[in-house]
Amino acid sequence: MPERRVMLPDLADQKRAGRKLAVLTCYDALFARLLESAGVDMLLVGDSLNQVLGGRASTLSATLDQMIYHAASVRRGVSATPVIVDLPFLSYQVSVEEAVRNAGRVLAETDCQAVKLEGGESMAATVHALVERGIPVFGHLGFTPQSVNLLGTRVQGRDENAARRLHADAQALQDAGASAVVLELVPRGVAAAISRELRIPTIGIGAGNGCDGQVLVLHDMLGLNEDFSPRFLKRYAELADVVRGAAQSFAQDVRDGSYPDDAHSFE
Ligand code: KIV
Repeated sequence: MPERRVMLPDLADQKRAGRKLAVLTCYDALFARLLESAGVDMLLVGDSLNQVLGGRASTLSATLDQMIYHAASVRRGVSATPVIVDLPFLSYQVSVEEAVRNAGRVLAETDCQAVKLEGGESMAATVHALVERGIPVFGHLGFTPQSVNLLGTRVQGRDENAARRLHADAQALQDAGASAVVLELVPRGVAAAISRELRIPTIGIGAGNGCDGQVLVLHDMLGLNEDFSPRFLKRYAELADVVRGAAQSFAQDVRDGSYPDDAHSFE
């Protein structure tokens, strides 16, 4: 596999060079090691871990300590792949001061390289303050999961006003110094137009192929999350069947006494 190392300060150059970014979520060191060896460009420790691993209905109850634990684990699994960490709900919205303190904790305690937060113009002052203090920020627009109670899980930016707002939000994030913007559940024409306008990369999820990169939730694209099959999701494996099959074989072997056999026992 050719060396394709992404460095966060070079993201705008990568975009100018037409290099698409492949990003996956990751919550632990073991998968981080595998994903780095597969050549994935960046890993996102998403607060989706609250749903995927924690079985919760939304991301809202993820805590800063949980994010730090998982982010530090992911960081230990990679040598050079940049790791971006979601700031959880209420860790950055209350005040700029709290945002700086919490985002600073994330970088200091995990050695990860950037944080991600949700929101556009309303978060511009916060993004600016973080960047001024040396904390790289990824924005997140469109469907923003921390606002699920307000938005539902609908595609965002379908009508003209909403699309105009998305453009303004993306521009505000770029002007505030964001390194990249995630666009989630956005019509592909709107996402492509925003991507053309911005100097920094857009990373789409359910936002079509006009974005500068794509991100998927690892467990979803591996087919581990059988109940989740939105239109945008492509499953690159069906691991739920593999896991269930392996567990059934193990249970069968234990019950009929064929495991452990001589080859798996000590003298
Ligand atoms: O939390 C997460 O996994 C995310 C992605 C869906 C972009 O924010």
